[in-house]
Amino acid sequence: MSERFFVTGTDTGIGKTTVSALLCAALDAIYWKPIQTGSREGTDRNTVMRLAELPANRTIPENYLFAPPVSPHLAAERAGVCIDLRKIQAPHLPKSENLIAEGAGGVLVPVNRTQLMVDLMRRLKFPVLLVARTALGTINHTLISLAALRAARLSVRGVILCGKPNADNRRAIERYGEVAVLGAVPLLARIDRVSLLRVFQRNFDRKAFAR
Ligand SMILES: Nc1ncnc2c1ncn2[C@@H]1O[C@H](COP(=O)(O)OP(=O)(O)OP(=O)(O)O)[C@@H](O)[C@H]1O
Ligand SMILES: [Mg+2]
Repeated sequence: MSERFFVTGTDTGIGKTTVSALLCAALDAIYWKPIQTGSREGTDRNTVMRLAELPANRTIPENYLFAPPVSPHLAAERAGVCIDLRKIQAPHLPKSENLIAEGAGGVLVPVNRTQLMVDLMRRLKFPVLLVARTALGTINHTLISLAALRAARLSVRGVILCGKPNADNRRAIERYGEVAVLGAVPLLARIDRVSLLRVFQRNFDRKAFAR
């Protein structure tokens, strides 16, 4: 059966695109970033195509694309548009295809005057993967994000840690968050398809991704 995941994070710049590229390579998945801001500095779709060596036809075009690197609600407002979540439909794909969708920023980032990123996740109903950093402060940010995801009645498949390994923080997240850490991406000197696949083989609970 195919897998569809929504990759969110405890913050912006936390490693969501890196983890998405890793999962696209490891699961031979299609990549989709429905809302992209900051496109003047490049898009996550292009980054994933480069890192995972995906051809463009293994990606879904963005539904909303804005140049300024600001929150989606603000980028849309500045462009004179309103992000309408009803217009963001899960792509129709053959049953055998895996899909990785990446959010913008974190869980409670606003997308319009009344809705947040978590409302997009509720519409799509994909199991959620939460990317968190390993360093000090991560326990608090991860538990708050998990609380927000659960308050929205979303199914959280697990947490993926990104950064210099920290066994104490990993254990604390699992214990207090009542969640499984399904993988850990160490600091990589070079991020490419080969190094990402190696991390998946060594540091991920591969059974959790093979349903
Ligand atoms: N494990 C890692 N080792 C080294 N560098 C990393 C690692 N993970 C992420 N980075 C770097 O950190 C930066 C932010 O990572 P990434 O783009 O994956 O974050 P993001 O959560 O997708 O950000 P955004 O909120 O903009 O979508 C990038 O420059 C990326 O190359
Ligand atoms: Mg990203």
